[in-house]
Amino acid sequence: MARKPFIAGNWKMNMTAESGKQLITELKPLVKGAKCEVALCVPAILIPAMSKAVKGSKIKLGAQNMHWAESGAFTGEISAEMLKEYGVKYVIIGHSERRQYFGETDETVNKRTLAVLKNDLTPIVCVGETLEERENDKTKSVLDKQLEEGLKDVEDVTKLVIAYEPVWAIGTGKTATDEQAQETIKYIRKKLGKLFGSKNANKVKIQYGGSMNAKNCKGLMAQPDIDGGLIGGASLKTDFATIVNFEK
Ligand code: PGA
Repeated sequence: MARKPFIAGNWKMNMTAESGKQLITELKPLVKGAKCEVALCVPAILIPAMSKAVKGSKIKLGAQNMHWAESGAFTGEISAEMLKEYGVKYVIIGHSERRQYFGETDETVNKRTLAVLKNDLTPIVCVGETLEERENDKTKSVLDKQLEEGLKDVEDVTKLVIAYEPVWAIGTGKTATDEQAQETIKYIRKKLGKLFGSKNANKVKIQYGGSMNAKNCKGLMAQPDIDGGLIGGASLKTDFATIVNFEK
């Protein structure tokens, strides 16, 4: 069966309850006829208000991180139970900004991913190389390590989503070309095949992320291995609906 496309927005540390509600109100009619899966991953504090705002629409709610423990002395962290109480379905794990600025490692990515799956939520596991790594021909070895260690002990890989986000393309306006994104995502699928069997790998949704916008989304989405997008900047505007409607 063909993989259903999945477009997810990542608001990062942007928006307020007020502006978020307003944007969702504008987006709702625009994404009504969308054929793909749609989600917005919002800051944790906005989850209660946004869970109300998205009611009755195609937009599902996602979080930007989750701790692996059920509860306890982990100041500043958020548990699965807290997310599920508000109907959250997706959790971004291991975003490059978390890796770069907040000490996220492949080991903690793995712990979080396993916990998200155990709680019947869908992790969007982010992988990707820096510019320096790409220029030094290390893209494949970086991705290998992120996938081997980040997805260790995952029992059913078809239950997660991978987001390939080359760090040099995030928030820079420098999108990977359609060919670069396709080639690397094809490599990721091949690697997943080695780790989990090619039948399973063919069922995994793999998104592209990094300056994807209303203009370049069609070309990227036309690539055979690209199943969706993780959208930062363009998810803060109604442009997000244009991306969601890329098939029209
Ligand atoms: P961008 O962010 O679309 O603003 O480049 C993508 C992401 O980091 O998820």
